[in-house]
Amino acid sequence: MNIEDLKAAFRNLYGCEVEHAYFAPGRVNLIGEHTDYNGGLVFPCALSFGTWLLISRRGDSQNSLHSLNMDFAATIDNSIFAASPKEWIKYPAGVMKEFADRGHHVFGYNMLFAGNVPLGSSLSSSASIEVATALMLNDVCHTQLNMTDLVKLSQHAECDFVGVKCGIMDQFASGFGKKNHAIALNCATLDYEHVPFCIDGYKLLITNTNKPHSLVASKYNDRRRECEDAARTLAEKYPIKFLCELTEEQFETSKHLIKNQIVRNRAEHAVYENARVHKAIDALKAGNLAFFGQLMNASHRSLKDLYEVSCFELDTLAENAQQYDGVLGSRMTGGGFGGCTVTLIQADKVDAFMAHIAPLYKEQTGLEASFYIADIGDGAQKLF
Ligand code: GLA
Repeated sequence: MNIEDLKAAFRNLYGCEVEHAYFAPGRVNLIGEHTDYNGGLVFPCALSFGTWLLISRRGDSQNSLHSLNMDFAATIDNSIFAASPKEWIKYPAGVMKEFADRGHHVFGYNMLFAGNVPLGSSLSSSASIEVATALMLNDVCHTQLNMTDLVKLSQHAECDFVGVKCGIMDQFASGFGKKNHAIALNCATLDYEHVPFCIDGYKLLITNTNKPHSLVASKYNDRRRECEDAARTLAEKYPIKFLCELTEEQFETSKHLIKNQIVRNRAEHAVYENARVHKAIDALKAGNLAFFGQLMNASHRSLKDLYEVSCFELDTLAENAQQYDGVLGSRMTGGGFGGCTVTLIQADKVDAFMAHIAPLYKEQTGLEASFYIADIGDGAQKLF
């Protein structure tokens, strides 16, 4: 995305110059899926894909919003907060509401959004819109919130206004990304560490199923509820608030307390996935990419069999990749039910791999896969 082209597009649309521009990235999660709202560890990276937001002042009490990549435009005022909008506009509107609820005046701007995160692909296009909007409002409202506050407020907008009871991983990765580093984040405390993502001779390849999502919010919210039920049950034995406070051993000695097999499976995933993230961070630091890859494969299996958030398309991509010579590991990334896989693969095998997987995937699912080499970028920032 070229900023001069975006400025020209802004000028064409609004007939005036851009005053400020902001950027917030999407993310890919390496491992630690559905652990964030269970008080566990996650290990995402920010991408160089993201959302650019360009603005100017208008002199009235409305916001005009255009999106270049979503082909949608609207002029809104504060009646939007009672309207539960359906389009992508709910993401910036949810963040505007967060600031309005804190007593700030959030209207009076021309806004142009331009994104290159593939939509609905589990690479956090929505978090990147939210965090870009939060960064912009923090600037123009002179709120002086720090990045942690902006991340939390963006997550709250998604839970409250959008209606997905998400954890904090996506917004945090967008806010705190660092070029060529992964973020080891403890979601219970928000302590984090930037871990150099050194994979010499290997690439991180993202493959998009291009499967349209359906009912994702309700299934996601169901998983969260099941985990909360499990945590309440196990709290009878251990003084825990979140499932990921348990070790694997503690889970094994108490899992019989969870009578419902489905709920027990969900809890087993959360506890073991959290343990895998610890091991994966250590493996990366020790340069043991082969073990890192095995943990990715185990994560996928657990998400498929225990957490049941995978789907035929994701399994087709991940399982075919896992068989391929030169692939160390492959798994679904993000919330699931569609979206992308992430694969750790020998750099000189990438072209042959894509040539092998694309027709196989098409034959097995009828869909075209898309591929992106992950370029790990910095977190959200004001550009000017
Ligand atoms: C979505 C949510 C995140 C996280 C992942 C699964 O991306 O927004 O908070 O729960 O799913 O790991």
